[in-house]
Amino acid sequence: MDSIHICGGCPLHGETRIQGSKNAVLPILAAAVLVDGTVTLYNCPKIADVLCMVRLLQSVGCLVEWRAGKLTVDASHLCGGSLPEEYVTRMRSSVIMMGALLGRTGRVSISYPGGCVIGKRPINMHLEAFTRMGVVLEEEGSTLTAKTEGISGSEITLAFPSVGATENIILAAALAEGETVIRGAAREPEITALCKFLTGAGAEICTEEGGAVIRIRGVKKLHTCTYRVPSDRIVAGTYLLGCMAAGGTIRLTEADAGQLTAVLSVIQQMGGEYTCDGTGITLTAPKRPAAVPYLKTKVYPGYPTDLQSQLLAVLALAQGESVVEEAIFENRFRVVPQLIRMGAHISIEGTQAVIEGVQTIHGAAVTAEELRGGAALCIAALAADGETHIANRHFIDRGYEALERDIRRLGGRI
Ligand code: UD1
Repeated sequence: MDSIHICGGCPLHGETRIQGSKNAVLPILAAAVLVDGTVTLYNCPKIADVLCMVRLLQSVGCLVEWRAGKLTVDASHLCGGSLPEEYVTRMRSSVIMMGALLGRTGRVSISYPGGCVIGKRPINMHLEAFTRMGVVLEEEGSTLTAKTEGISGSEITLAFPSVGATENIILAAALAEGETVIRGAAREPEITALCKFLTGAGAEICTEEGGAVIRIRGVKKLHTCTYRVPSDRIVAGTYLLGCMAAGGTIRLTEADAGQLTAVLSVIQQMGGEYTCDGTGITLTAPKRPAAVPYLKTKVYPGYPTDLQSQLLAVLALAQGESVVEEAIFENRFRVVPQLIRMGAHISIEGTQAVIEGVQTIHGAAVTAEELRGGAALCIAALAADGETHIANRHFIDRGYEALERDIRRLGGRI
């Protein structure tokens, strides 16, 4: 059944462990293509986007085995660089296979990638960087072919710290001839995870200026390695915000508070009280959250766009008026009409959402239109009076490994 039913209105109480990070593991899986040998990943989340990436790896000849949280990828016998449209159009992150395949084989052909419907999401920065690195691009219909006689290390300055472009350049540069320097690089923890993984496989990468400058000295070969995928900061943030909306006290183990500084500061502003120790985060929600007069999404370490929709669900119930500005993706208020169906008072003015907090919202039949908006509907449903039916759960399954299990462990009725 492609839907989720939640009976809301009861505070959360319980503990759950946070899964491995989707946005960290996807580029690491692409990086496995660069390794002449076997890559072993622990704590790999079993989510739809990872399954899609596994299919892409298999389509180019990788042997993939997945047993009890341990995923192995053997790219010793790559047999092609043409990525099947079926998977590429399903997931935007498939574009990061480009840098990896170019680095290893010098050729890739790919349909323009798909992904969440949260804006235009062009890949111009990825392609401009590849061109500087000696790659020739040819476009025929919706298929893009990229070829090179050998990637050459280059100086690349990004106009915006794009996460995907930074990852693609790192992947293309790992086996390149000479040194690549990325200035204005993205500093998200997922970039750090990719660099750690590659360094463990023998790559030469160092960072300067707090990660804004990344230097990659190309090596001849990457070797077999093992890596544990770090925990998913967006899943942790989603459950913390779920508790802020529904009330109660929850504990999240393996949640990394250091990666959630901006989110925890907003939670504190809304009246949440939390403690962090070496093993996780414990949060007690206030009776009713306080409004957030103004918040703008930012690149890391700012408040993440991937937790913006979930915050709207909390602010829908806050005391007073809040304003949330979306600065990363232009189409990220798609969940608002669905929250309004549940009784929220939200209006959109350009890139800003104005939220007039109400005392209660109610259950309704709503539809998820993308991953994080779907998670926001689950949060609203946990706090709402009555029952909520959320259609299109497959969007939520792209990023949450076991939402029902986790919400039940946290005391929600799902
Ligand atoms: C990644 C994350 C996504 C997160 C986003 C921002 C993964 C799999 N996805 O997406 O969850 O919301 O970072 O933190 O890790 N842009 C261009 N041209 C380009 C590339 C990007 O204009 O060539 C624009 C995008 O349209 C967007 C902004 O830059 O407005 C940010 O995009 P980017 O950082 O690249 O996000 P993704 O890597 O797609």
